[in-house]
Formats: sequence, C-alpha cells, structure tokens
Amino acid sequence: MHDAMELNRRHWDDATEAHARGNIYGLEDFRRGMCRLHRVELAEVGDVSGKSLLHLQCHFGLDTLSWARRGAKVTGVDFSPKAVELARLLASDSGIPATFVCCNLYDVRDSLPGGGTFDVIFTSHGALCWLPDLKPWAQIIAHYLKPGGVFYVADAHPMGRIFPTEADINENPGIDPARPFFPYFGAAEGMRWPASADYADPTITTGPSHDWQHTLADIVGALLGAGLVLEFLHEFPFCAWRAIPAMVQVERFSDSHRYWGMPAGTPSLPLMFSIRARKPETTTTTKE
Ligand SMILES: C[S@@+](CC[C@H](N)C(=O)[O-])C[C@H]1O[C@@H](n2cnc3c(N)ncnc32)[C@H](O)[C@@H]1O
Repeated sequence: MHDAMELNRRHWDDATEAHARGNIYGLEDFRRGMCRLHRVELAEVGDVSGKSLLHLQCHFGLDTLSWARRGAKVTGVDFSPKAVELARLLASDSGIPATFVCCNLYDVRDSLPGGGTFDVIFTSHGALCWLPDLKPWAQIIAHYLKPGGVFYVADAHPMGRIFPTEADINENPGIDPARPFFPYFGAAEGMRWPASADYADPTITTGPSHDWQHTLADIVGALLGAGLVLEFLHEFPFCAWRAIPAMVQVERFSDSHRYWGMPAGTPSLPLMFSIRARKPETTTTTKE
C-alpha cells in the first residue's frame, strides 16, 4: 500500500476507536433506530428499496446500514480493520443483512468479485480527500455499476478547504481566518497533517494523516472520463461538519448530525457539492 495510505489506515483505526464511544458519532442514535443519512442525500439518491447498493469508504457502516433499513441490499468497503469489524458487529446486533469488505479502495477488485453488479454506488462526507488519484476511483465505480446504474456522491466542496483550520489559526497568530491559506489547485503529492484533535471528538487525538485536494473539475472529469453521464452537479452553502472555524450550525438532525454554514450576515460560500452520474445502458464502441 502507498505509504501515505498506510498512515491513513492507522489514522482511521484511531478515529474509529474515538467515534465508537458513546453517541459521539451517533452510534447510540443508530441503535435506537435513527437514520444517519442527511436530508440532501436522502432526497437526491431517492428510493433504494430492492436495489443493490455499494458504499465506498463506509467507515463503520452507519450510513450503509441506514440505506439497508430503507430496503437496499448493501455492501460497504473500507480499509480500516477496526471500522469494518465494528460495522459487522452493528449489522449482526441490529439484525440487518449487510456485507462489509475490508480493503484499500484501489484494490477492491481483489476482494469483491464481479462487475456490473450494483444499482447504486454511494460515497459521502469526507471521502474524496483520502484518495490520491480520482481516475482509478472513477474506473472502479464504472466497473461495479450495472448498465443504467447510478453513482452518487455528497462531500465537502473543495473550495471550503482553502481556509485555515483552527490549528493553523492557533499556530499562526495574526493570520486572517477569512483569507485563503491553502491553494485550491492541490499538488499531486498531497498534504501531510500532524497528529491532531479528532473532528468528531476534539478531546481525542488521532494519528498523523495525509490527504489530497481535488478540484470540482478533477471530480467531474474523472467520472466523465470513466464513461459515466452526469445527471446533476449541485452546490450548497452548508456541509456536514465545521470545515471552516467561522462556520455555525445551520440545521440540526441530532447532537452528532448537523449541517454547518457561514454565519448570518456573511457572504455565502459553496461548502458542499453533490453529483449524480449514470452508467449508460449501452456503451458505444467505435470501429477502428
Ligand atoms: C470521513 S470517513 C467517511 C465517513 C462516512 N461518510 C460516514 O459518515 O460514516 C472516511 C473513510 O474513508 C476510509 N478510507 C480512507 N482512505 C481509504 C482507502 N484508500 N480505501 C478504503 N477506505 C478508505 C476511512 O477508513 C474512513 O472510514
């Protein structure tokens, strides 16, 4: 495995331990029957009953199992052994049929047989920044979708990643938190982050990590390049976590489950995007 992704795998094992405690990530809410999906993806993915659904980077499966409660036949993929172990435990404790595969997304073909097998492929909130290269990611999506099947992603808008984080502000006294601090056009080698406070539980420190900035054009371009047809691209003035320190809660679903946006009276910014793309029913091949 790419060294940076191995570092990330350890980071996500740490994060899983933090997120599994109490109701920090909504585990207790989920056990009480609450749906862990946000309203935008629920509306935009639509009815999944009877459909086969592959969830990429599923963490410990709260969203995967929430889709299953809505009638989908679910498979989740994640490379953190701790996350997958917890996902399997939650599925069996809740009596929800689900398959969880533990592997690096880029190696998924070695662990998940078949192709053209899923009606829906889903990924969300904090997934794409962990991937060094979106071209093979999009090829994997095209490989597993049935002809006519739908890919859906809702994630933080890459624009939201250009501002300094809380840690950057603390370490650089006097910087303007409203001025861009990171480039929008990220470098191929990505960014190394030191061990830091966990986003869901700042009292816990998770190990160092490495991530990559992908522009909106990189994301759309990868999907089009893999032969998918874009159905829509939406932008929203809020996202699923407090990506910029100035953000405030603008919608609340539960203690651990909200949308955050810029405070009233400040200009709105694109903070989340969603994309739905379809694999064509037939692929046209041109004769040489
Ligand atoms: C922010 S979490 C996704 C959260 C999910 N949307 C949720 O709300 O539960 C990102 C996930 O991506 C997984 N991940 C990161 N890089 C990966 C890779 N190369 N292959 C597979 N999973 C990966 C991590 O283990 C982690 O569970």
